Amino acid sequence: MSGIQLTETTSSSFAPAADEQTDKPERGREVLIVQSLSKFFQRANGTTVPAVDGVSLSVSAGEFLVLLGPSGCGKTTLLRCIAGLEKPDAGRIDIDGKTVYSSVERIELSAQQRTLSMVFQSYALWPNMSVFDNIAYPLRNRKIKKAQVEEDVNRIAKLVGIDEVITQYPNHISGGQQQRVALARALVSGDALVLFDEPLSNVDAKVRKDLRVELTALQRRFGFAAVYVTHDQEDAMELGTQIAVLEKGKVAQLASPREVYQNPASRYVATFIGSTNELPGKVVAVDSEGVEVETAIGRIRGTHVPHTMNVGDEAVAIFRPEHGTVSAVEPTGPNKLRAVYRTELFSGSHAEQILTFQHKVYRVWHGEPLERGEEGWIAVDPDKVHIFGA
Ligand SMILES: Nc1ncnc2c1ncn2[C@@H]1O[C@H](COP(=O)(O)OP(=O)(O)O)[C@@H](O)[C@H]1O
Ligand SMILES: [Mg+2]
Repeated sequence: MSGIQLTETTSSSFAPAADEQTDKPERGREVLIVQSLSKFFQRANGTTVPAVDGVSLSVSAGEFLVLLGPSGCGKTTLLRCIAGLEKPDAGRIDIDGKTVYSSVERIELSAQQRTLSMVFQSYALWPNMSVFDNIAYPLRNRKIKKAQVEEDVNRIAKLVGIDEVITQYPNHISGGQQQRVALARALVSGDALVLFDEPLSNVDAKVRKDLRVELTALQRRFGFAAVYVTHDQEDAMELGTQIAVLEKGKVAQLASPREVYQNPASRYVATFIGSTNELPGKVVAVDSEGVEVETAIGRIRGTHVPHTMNVGDEAVAIFRPEHGTVSAVEPTGPNKLRAVYRTELFSGSHAEQILTFQHKVYRVWHGEPLERGEEGWIAVDPDKVHIFGA
């Protein structure tokens, strides 16, 4: 049996590890390798859906890969292919040094033969079993001795913070607790790879935030490789060491959360993650420093230009609200955009200044509110402006 022994003795997931001589997976070792994986579905009307389209990625021990994208982009299908619940059409999957699927070599291991655990959106707990029995299930399946099962289950339940409800049944505990039980069941089996499919989407916002922190702490400590599916960018940013942004079955960008946020590879990635101002227009100047676009509210220069652009091209300039400043007087920098001041939206941590022009809304976080209906300026540093093809 591969994996992690549960030698943890403290109840807090933030306490230092009590015993470092566990056989937890060696960090940096590639636990999951997916190569050129494709899965097509046939629709009833005869069309083919490329749910997963030539995806390649790898996840090392201790790494947390988030698969992020809107509904229907192929996240669940990709995860199910890795788990062995869906048969891909092409490609290769290696788990823990073993090929579990290869279209070329005609290898296909069943879900049971793959050393991984899954945590689903619906907790998939057995309602007629106590919390203890739910967590013990994978261990009993492996014919592990009764005393050992008891020790492991109690230890992990304490670690995940559900020791007080260990004798309860799933429908007598809260959603957050049910999710912890599902997590405990995944951790107790000690697999080097744990797959998550939107596990927090049924949990309320406050508990969700807490569970994110705990999940990250547990994952870093146990050192398993995680693949986590979500359409929630906050989940993705906080949990991921790497984010794969999926677009129609393809990887649009695979990078750290910071990189994906600060250097989005495409308009799709930029607008899916975080809030943005989008200014469509035509390229009017191209030089070694950047590109200028003529837009409805003025000419805007940007220095982040991932693709080659030429004068006359249709383009879109994008910047985030936290990089924009509103003012009543003309700014001094190169980017001076004109719009009509509307209102301030205060959200606690910051105030957002809202401007409009021709029914389009612009949001900036800096500067003082103007009079409602007053014409004002928006300034933004060209180094914070991204120019993409339209
Ligand atoms: N069993 C199926 N039969 C036909 N089409 C499917 C099936 N499962 C998923 N799809 C299609 O594949 C695409 C990807 O679906 P899915 O992986 O569930 O996306 P996500 O998890 O990102 O919402 C969607 O267009 C979906 O309609
Ligand atoms: Mg899904």
